[in-house]
Amino acid sequence: MALIDDLLKRRSVRRYKDENIPKKDFEKILQAGLLAPTSRNRKPCNFLIVENKKTLEKLSKAKESGAEMLAGCNKAIVVVANPMISDTWIEDSSIALGYMHLMAASLDIGSCWVQIHLRKTSDGEDSENAVKEIIGVDDYYRIVGILALGIPKNEVKPYALEDIDKSRIHFLV
Ligand SMILES: Cc1cc2nc3c(=O)[nH]c(=O)nc-3n(C[C@H](O)[C@H](O)[C@H](O)COP(=O)(O)O)c2cc1C
Repeated sequence: MALIDDLLKRRSVRRYKDENIPKKDFEKILQAGLLAPTSRNRKPCNFLIVENKKTLEKLSKAKESGAEMLAGCNKAIVVVANPMISDTWIEDSSIALGYMHLMAASLDIGSCWVQIHLRKTSDGEDSENAVKEIIGVDDYYRIVGILALGIPKNEVKPYALEDIDKSRIHFLV
């Protein structure tokens, strides 16, 4: 399959079956995160895997809305960046999240980016702090987002090339 086919197939999937992701698929998803490029090749991100249902439930409340799917996912990958290793931790974390999300789609595994950085819990607490407390990492780490993963519950509707909004492309004359 060509990369464009996987790009068309990639959707945010928020509802999952109560089934495990095959181990070899999950390994490939992690490989994608590890293969993501980073500025100056500094590799500031670590990948923390959460499988425990109670912890996933807690993470689903780490922001006011948009994290609910974590409670029903099979696994979550929290991208934990060390800003002392690189000042481009936001970019590096984002690329890793995007690569893993795309790899998951290519394997027919559903996934969804859960934004943590810049978000708040329903109590007004900083979402990054809430996540750090749940997973037990030091304060200085930064968390752009979490990838929720699972076998899609419903059929995933791919995009079509005709959906592309070409009016956003501008050639400078
Ligand atoms: C930076 C970023 C943050 C996102 N945060 C969330 C989120 O917190 N919760 C959520 O359900 N979806 C989140 N998404 C998924 C977007 O809502 C989704 O990509 C967009 O609606 C387009 O749908 P598609 O992914 O199916 O093409 C995020 C996506 C990106 C790129």
